[in-house]
Amino acid sequence: MAKKILFNAFDMNCVGHIQQGLWAHPRDQSGRYTDLSYWIDYARRLEAGLFDGIFMADVVGVNDVYGGSNAAALRGAVQVPVNDPMLLVPAMAAVTKHLAFGITANLTYEAPFLFARRMSTLDHLTNGRIGWNIVTGYLDSAAKAIGLDAQAAHDDRYDLADEYMNVVYRLWEESWQDDAIVNDPSRHLYADPQKVHKIRHKGPQYSLDAIHLCEPSPQRAPVLYQAGSSTRGRQFAATHAECVFVNGQKIEGVKAIIDDIRTRATDRGRKPDDIKVFMGATIVTGRTDKEAQEKYEDYRAYVSSEAALVHAAASMGIDFAKYDLDEPIETGKSAAIVSNVEAMTRTAGPQWTKRKLLEQMVLGSRQPPMIGSAEKIADELGKWANEAGVDGFNLSRTVVPECFDDIIESVIPILQDRGLYKTAYSEGPLRQKLFGQPRLPARHIGAGHRRFSPAAE
Ligand SMILES: Cc1cc2nc3c(=O)[nH]c(=O)nc-3n(C[C@H](O)[C@H](O)[C@H](O)COP(=O)(O)O)c2cc1C
Repeated sequence: MAKKILFNAFDMNCVGHIQQGLWAHPRDQSGRYTDLSYWIDYARRLEAGLFDGIFMADVVGVNDVYGGSNAAALRGAVQVPVNDPMLLVPAMAAVTKHLAFGITANLTYEAPFLFARRMSTLDHLTNGRIGWNIVTGYLDSAAKAIGLDAQAAHDDRYDLADEYMNVVYRLWEESWQDDAIVNDPSRHLYADPQKVHKIRHKGPQYSLDAIHLCEPSPQRAPVLYQAGSSTRGRQFAATHAECVFVNGQKIEGVKAIIDDIRTRATDRGRKPDDIKVFMGATIVTGRTDKEAQEKYEDYRAYVSSEAALVHAAASMGIDFAKYDLDEPIETGKSAAIVSNVEAMTRTAGPQWTKRKLLEQMVLGSRQPPMIGSAEKIADELGKWANEAGVDGFNLSRTVVPECFDDIIESVIPILQDRGLYKTAYSEGPLRQKLFGQPRLPARHIGAGHRRFSPAAE
């Protein structure tokens, strides 16, 4: 039986996310992001259309690399203003039963103890539908917001993340035994203190001496997503991630990254199938190729090249305002998302320029749209799944909500006819749906902390 393709809607709690400028399209509704009914409708729509989840990006700083100022980002709504994505989850969960929530949270600026509690709370409230996209940030503006001069160096951020993971695993997996809850009103006994353990940790970055405040939730550790595929990023993914989010334009390049992460994971005692890979994709479709092309031309009229450069500058850590159109860009010093710089160099060659970058950002980002009839889109998605080993797609919004309606109405039925998309949800928490069990498998590093028998403190 052919493997089923997974779909997440890829969005952010803001006006301008990936495809910059499209919020200005008259049919786009992203400006309603402060209105809870917008997100409630959105969640209902995705679940009715059998989407697997909604994947929310997040940044805690401003994209102020371009021209050394936040002015263009504010003018063009380039991921600012931006609200907290976690707070949307309970409302969307209340009107759905299966839709999963992949929430990006930057671990650098929040104590693991508090963060672990918020994720456990969401895992309880969603009945096990929560995933965490583990990011370490790439903006100095975020570091400055919490009192630092600049963010830590690229690889050091991953070292910090390794220690952070160790602490949150212990809170989620080790602190409470499965049978710690007795809940016997006749004895006035809710939890057995012998079965709830303090986590004591003293490391270079974090110290802790506390029990986890939440009782075990359906998944315990949320499903772990990771995005970032520099060499250090891949090591991190191979160790921790259950779902990896990659970007890329050529099948060979993406396949090489996926194969490498899976090989590194096997070196760590995991199985290649323990990791699902989601590729970022943008789809513009219609009943015919012609209709899709016309839609694309219409969308394109609203793209903002300046806003696209603002986002690219921040994510690559390069101030494109300093370069003339045809001046080669100096790429060697990026301390931001190294994989984005590498992907651009792979596509455009080592001597790329601002002109080449702008030529790629046809719809407002470096993510090139797949344009065409639903059959054509289904062919393309199937090719990525077969040839690159991609399991699913994080589908960037263009003009919302019609971009997702188009996929639901035309692309999903064709994939279903081809046996490449589910026709109904399976039961259970997110990890159960993805990997067949609700908790981390025993071979995952996070499961190594579990206690199965009472232990003295
Ligand atoms: C496809 C993709 C999506 C990402 N989304 C976010 C995000 O929403 N928020 C964020 O702070 N960092 C995001 N990042 C940044 C990375 O998670 C990571 O913190 C950092 O950029 C290092 O990536 P690298 O290993 O490729 O250098 C994203 C990176 C990629 C490649």
